[in-house]
Amino acid sequence: MLQVEQLNQYYGGSHILRDVSFDAPVGAVTCILGRNGVGKSTLLKCLMGQLAAKSGRIRWQGEDITRYAPHRRAGRGIAYVPQGREIFPRLTVEENLRMGLARFGGRRGRELPHEVFAMFPVLREMQQRRGGDLSGGQQQQLAIARALVGRPSLLILDEPTEGIQPSIIKQIGEVIKQLAQRGDMAILLVEQYYDFAEELADNYLVMARGEMVKAGSGAAMSADGVRELLAI
Ligand SMILES: Nc1ncnc2c1ncn2[C@@H]1O[C@H](COP(=O)(O)OP(=O)(O)O)[C@@H](O)[C@H]1O
Ligand SMILES: [Mg+2]
Repeated sequence: MLQVEQLNQYYGGSHILRDVSFDAPVGAVTCILGRNGVGKSTLLKCLMGQLAAKSGRIRWQGEDITRYAPHRRAGRGIAYVPQGREIFPRLTVEENLRMGLARFGGRRGRELPHEVFAMFPVLREMQQRRGGDLSGGQQQQLAIARALVGRPSLLILDEPTEGIQPSIIKQIGEVIKQLAQRGDMAILLVEQYYDFAEELADNYLVMARGEMVKAGSGAAMSADGVRELLAI
């Protein structure tokens, strides 16, 4: 389980994360919703260690990782698909995927697991194409596949549906469902696309101005008025 306690973060004098606390259990999709600029990506960067939290604590599987460098968190099985995907446009699809193997040595560090191609068949077809030649949706699939190649036990996704066509959104949703059903991964999904979040979330959290303002089970999102809350 991921446990976040009283996290605070600032950009200069602006207080961006305000005592953020939540849990994300293994075997479940925890969805964080919130409008533009409320601090969702900042929170994920703190979880990954790209930003040092000013105060608070981050625990993963009982271990305090608050002060770990990003590569050390990756070594603990935490993978992150940033907003805007950030694949390597000049490398081939296969080379991009191999980047995800970086935390392994030996044979495991050389062979791409077959299941990423089963999940995203288009990537097998396009293995020798440059990442930058793929469509936006294909690049998003590549970014998710690259994260999965590292066999994470915590997968963090920042707005994977942003700017993506509906058919690919559907495929990405199916993959997230499959991963959740396996039961051995915690999935933390940041989304602004309400319907996608509602379909996938086991638990939800709503963030506003750097604070968690509402939380509950995914099944209760509609009754809890989350859609209306996000429209305000
Ligand atoms: N590198 C930065 N320096 C200064 N302010 C930033 C930086 N990145 C984001 N911000 C500001 O912090 C707030 C939260 O941003 P962000 O975490 O990206 O929000 P979200 O992902 O919810 O849209 C916004 O007001 C944004 O303008
Ligand atoms: Mg963001």
